[in-house]
Amino acid sequence: MVDILVIFGPNLNMLGTREPEIYGSDSMADIMAALANRAEDLGRRIEMMQSNDEGELVSAIQKAREGAGAILFNLAAYTHSSVALRDALAMFDGPKVEVHLSNNDRREGFRKVSMTAGVSDGSIVGFGSDSFLLGLDAVHRLLLRRGDVGLVRQIEKGDIG
Ligand code: DQA
Repeated sequence: MVDILVIFGPNLNMLGTREPEIYGSDSMADIMAALANRAEDLGRRIEMMQSNDEGELVSAIQKAREGAGAILFNLAAYTHSSVALRDALAMFDGPKVEVHLSNNDRREGFRKVSMTAGVSDGSIVGFGSDSFLLGLDAVHRLLLRRGDVGLVRQIEKGDIG
């Protein structure tokens, strides 16, 4: 069980070298390291995964119904096309926050459509790699609102083993 599953969608494994003028120079590993640090500060146990495969992403979201309290996701290009990912997210009851490095509203028309925003609690876009960190904070706050202080704090307090 984890507090938050963080999902990186297709081509985000190429961050750092991929169109740096749009997505910045941080690699996915850099972003994951920053997220791991921030999660530790917040007392949240997180799991992170990346896939270029739509079906694999659907399966990960389905599995999160049993294994995660919340989902932070950047489904990258599938954001704009995937009804399957939208339907998978709709089945997940915990907090769901969508993030994008770039500001999709300032880009090509097809990026202005998000299949998944309508089944999310909120979206954070346009802050480069910081979008992920802001998204993590947002998920943390949504969990707190539900009275969920996080697995690390619960273990520290002896509430769970
Ligand atoms: C992206 C925006 C998408 O339109 C694009 O396909 C990506 C990255 C972003 O984080 O800015 O791969 O999700």
